Amino acid sequence: MSKKPIILGIESSCDETAASIVTENEQGIPIILSNIVSSQVEVHKEFGGVVPELAARAHIEKIDIIVKKAINESGLKIEQIDAVASTAGPGLIVCLSVGLSFGKSFASAMNIPFISVNHLEGHALSPKLNSKLDYPYLLLLISGGHSQYLSVNGIGNYKRLGTTIDDALGEAFDKTAKLLGVEFPGGPQIEILAERGNPNKYKLPMPIFNKGGCNLSFAGLKTAVLKVSKNIKNEQDKFDIAASFQKTILNIMYKKTKNAFTEYEKNTNPNKKFFVVAGGVAANKKIRSMLIDLCNENNYENIFPPINLCGDNGAMIALVGLEKFKMKRFDDLDFPAKPRWQLDEGAAFLKGAGVKL
Ligand code: KG4
Ligand code: ZN
Repeated sequence: MSKKPIILGIESSCDETAASIVTENEQGIPIILSNIVSSQVEVHKEFGGVVPELAARAHIEKIDIIVKKAINESGLKIEQIDAVASTAGPGLIVCLSVGLSFGKSFASAMNIPFISVNHLEGHALSPKLNSKLDYPYLLLLISGGHSQYLSVNGIGNYKRLGTTIDDALGEAFDKTAKLLGVEFPGGPQIEILAERGNPNKYKLPMPIFNKGGCNLSFAGLKTAVLKVSKNIKNEQDKFDIAASFQKTILNIMYKKTKNAFTEYEKNTNPNKKFFVVAGGVAANKKIRSMLIDLCNENNYENIFPPINLCGDNGAMIALVGLEKFKMKRFDDLDFPAKPRWQLDEGAAFLKGAGVKL
């Protein structure tokens, strides 16, 4: 029986301090030995969004405790870890630097390899943590920081088919929630308020809806919500705005995902069609059921990783570390934080076009 690598993964790109130990079994199926996530929601609540300096400070305060906990819960000794993988980007530079420095110091002190990981690559591979899934597959990543359609063709082989040109989807939910007086992160609350509202009360704009392809845009929606929210008179008005907002999102995501299917099939010509949805917004039941229906209509098998693996976590970073370890793709200890690190070669073009990366 060959010795399987044991990887410590560290994540600190935004407002979650996370660490995890991952290995694999004889068949090469990943095994999560521990997965600790400390959320900073309480730190940022009163500001209505993530404050980078406060986030960095909270990471510094928590990181050693979280890593220690991950090692303890794995039941392993620190000496059994074969490599450390840390998120190096994209994300907030002050936050990335914390996990990156910690990972490098750990690797150096233990004299084991250090591996830098692209956070998006972590999300892209996360469905493999709990399901047997072959390449290629189409991934929709919808979180507070990212919204993109990605063709995942193999390790290190990704093609971005579409991305948001302004706000991320979770950000749009959170900003709408803020306008309705709901605490950060308001996304889940919008879903609850929407249940009691009339989705047809307000007609909200759907930016770049009729433009082909699967790029997304949500900034115009926020401006429209700001306008209607000035006339809120009672609770029912709030319910109606939440319901109208969510319905507009459903319309946008239905059309753009359908376009993404077309782009994906044109680019990849897959034998079997898999559609994976990751990121915090994937928790939204209405979005989930719309996407499941869309998959059924288009012969896609749909996969939603469990919520704890959808949001930011260390296991997805350790998994990328594991794959890179097997390929002996290690990094030097001067590997920098890359706040705008993208996965695919199309990024340079989009950057030139003024697209938010
Ligand atoms: O992936 P995630 O946990 O963290 C990062 O963004 O990194 O995603 C959090 C985002 C927040 O914007 C939150 O409001 C949104 O996901 N979210 C939701 C729901 N649950 C979480 N948005 C809409 N409906 C939900 N049920
Ligand atoms: Zn993320």
